[in-house]
Amino acid sequence: MCGIVGYIGPRPAQDVLLSGLSKLEYRGYDSAGVAVWNDGDFQLEKSVGRLAVLSDRLEAQPLVGNQGIGHTRWATHGRPSDANAHPHADCSSAFVVVHNGIIENYMQLREELTASGHTFASETDTEVVAHLLEEKWTGDLFSTVLQVLQVVRGAYALGIMAKAEPGKLIAVRKHSPLIIGLGDGENFIASDIPAVLEYTRDVYILEEGELAVLTRDGVACFDLEGHPVHFEPLRVTWDAVAAERGGYPHFMLKEIHEQPKAVRDTLSGRLSEDGLSVCLPELPWSVEQAKQIDRIHIVACGTSYHAGLVGKVAIETLARIPVDVEIASEYRYRNPIVTDQTLIVVISQSGETADTLAALRKAKASGNRVLAITNVVGSSVAREADDVIITWAGPEISVASTKAYTTQLVALYLFAAYVGALRSAVDPGTVAQLVKDLATMPEKLEEVLDTAPLIEQIANEFSAWNDAFFLGRGLDYSVALEGALKYKEISYIHAEAYPAGELKHGTLALITEGVPVVAMVTQDALYEKSLSNIKEVKARDAHVLALAWAGDAEIAKSVDRVLYVPRTVSFLAPLMLIAPLQLLAYYASVARGNDVDKPRNLAKSVTVE
Ligand code: G6P
Repeated sequence: MCGIVGYIGPRPAQDVLLSGLSKLEYRGYDSAGVAVWNDGDFQLEKSVGRLAVLSDRLEAQPLVGNQGIGHTRWATHGRPSDANAHPHADCSSAFVVVHNGIIENYMQLREELTASGHTFASETDTEVVAHLLEEKWTGDLFSTVLQVLQVVRGAYALGIMAKAEPGKLIAVRKHSPLIIGLGDGENFIASDIPAVLEYTRDVYILEEGELAVLTRDGVACFDLEGHPVHFEPLRVTWDAVAAERGGYPHFMLKEIHEQPKAVRDTLSGRLSEDGLSVCLPELPWSVEQAKQIDRIHIVACGTSYHAGLVGKVAIETLARIPVDVEIASEYRYRNPIVTDQTLIVVISQSGETADTLAALRKAKASGNRVLAITNVVGSSVAREADDVIITWAGPEISVASTKAYTTQLVALYLFAAYVGALRSAVDPGTVAQLVKDLATMPEKLEEVLDTAPLIEQIANEFSAWNDAFFLGRGLDYSVALEGALKYKEISYIHAEAYPAGELKHGTLALITEGVPVVAMVTQDALYEKSLSNIKEVKARDAHVLALAWAGDAEIAKSVDRVLYVPRTVSFLAPLMLIAPLQLLAYYASVARGNDVDKPRNLAKSVTVE
């Protein structure tokens, strides 16, 4: 993944680069660096560790200049170190480069360049680009870059400057996101829009295989053969402040508490005014089209994959279409059985996850229709899919996904009801009831969030244990998987989700006295069965916290603690269960003193395989 920024204009470049990088740290944060042009030379400062380390160094010894590039890294080739941090330079420091992505043939290129006398200072794949620029120098940066791009293979977003051509910055996009910020007498590049919003709202999202030449006074775009291409900037209307922490100690907590609004926004305009049906104007499908779908493959990674598991139940229940849910990194290398009528649904908060994007492209290549559910307008996934449902969660900064998941669930329920109605697979009364129930979700979620102090107390106790188990049946199990993922990724406590009925086939051996077990019991049809499974763990002296419907007095007799959530239909239970699970993980992580928003080894947007 990694985040890149670039600036050219009248301001002190160092400040713009550091501010931009601070908005991109979600893309990686194991090292950072900047290169600033000043008085005939590049000055570089790079440092392993968080951006704060680099900022401190630069504060002590500022780099003066009005043009530069910067990078925040998530290591792929070469461990996090000062030497491996970007920007990278060639032997004579005539070129500096920042890169997001992977140069796939870098080994071979490195060998060839070494054989012709180049000396490498890092273990990265990126450094070959700097040496190639030196090797292929034509006396003109633009044509040299085009030549270099002919020989590098892989995925990249690049920012490049050359000593011989001050006043110029080149940006290239191939399979990794990159945007241009257009200012007045100044211009910017960045991996994502928030990095430039402080300075400009006019941006251009570079298309696949485009190259931009930036000077202070203008931007010109080209294809990778060097032909000029016309580009239309867009005006960003959303607020940069929305991306700030707004008084919460962590983005994650803020984002958990934003869920009622996020759900309201995602429902907005999608429930008919008469309250009887779902409208998805972005999917103007005919009845015929909907009826032709013979199967759906939902493909995603991480939390989005878990949302897909709930989506399967929603779609199979309401639309009666068989659904398979697959992990994108597996799907992309399989030979899945599809027909012309199979619909591929990709789910991705960022819309940039490399494996999900690859699965999308695979589906498109085999002629299948692709529907994307994503949170980022203009993302690669959104642009390449045939149909798009946007989840209006707003920017999600914390690495652990929260409000994006909840809005993905909403989108999937809406989609299931919409397609089910088109296919006449569901009776209108059921849809009308669902519409009514969905409309109450934001308010009910607010009630759920009011239980945060109790959850904090429980999490403080649970955080003393090195294990936790999350149990459920049916949809409760789908949510248990997300609950366990949340718990392990930010608290670093081993957490396992299990279908409650399967426990006795192995995992029960791990249940010992006092071990925390979180049991979901909201599937009415499976209530008795779930209760029996709870008794199995209680008999082994586990400490059981049940998540149950308000008013369920029975459950309290069988467990140590109950956390009640407002009653809704079992079908929508995931929307009620997830916030307590997120809060449990959050407070356990805080209790352990972890960096909640930036858990170790992880990154928000995984744009590499
Ligand atoms: C990373 C993030 C997760 C996210 C997953 C998929 O692992 O840390 O929170 O669920 O990527 O990301 P996507 O943007 O495709 O939903």
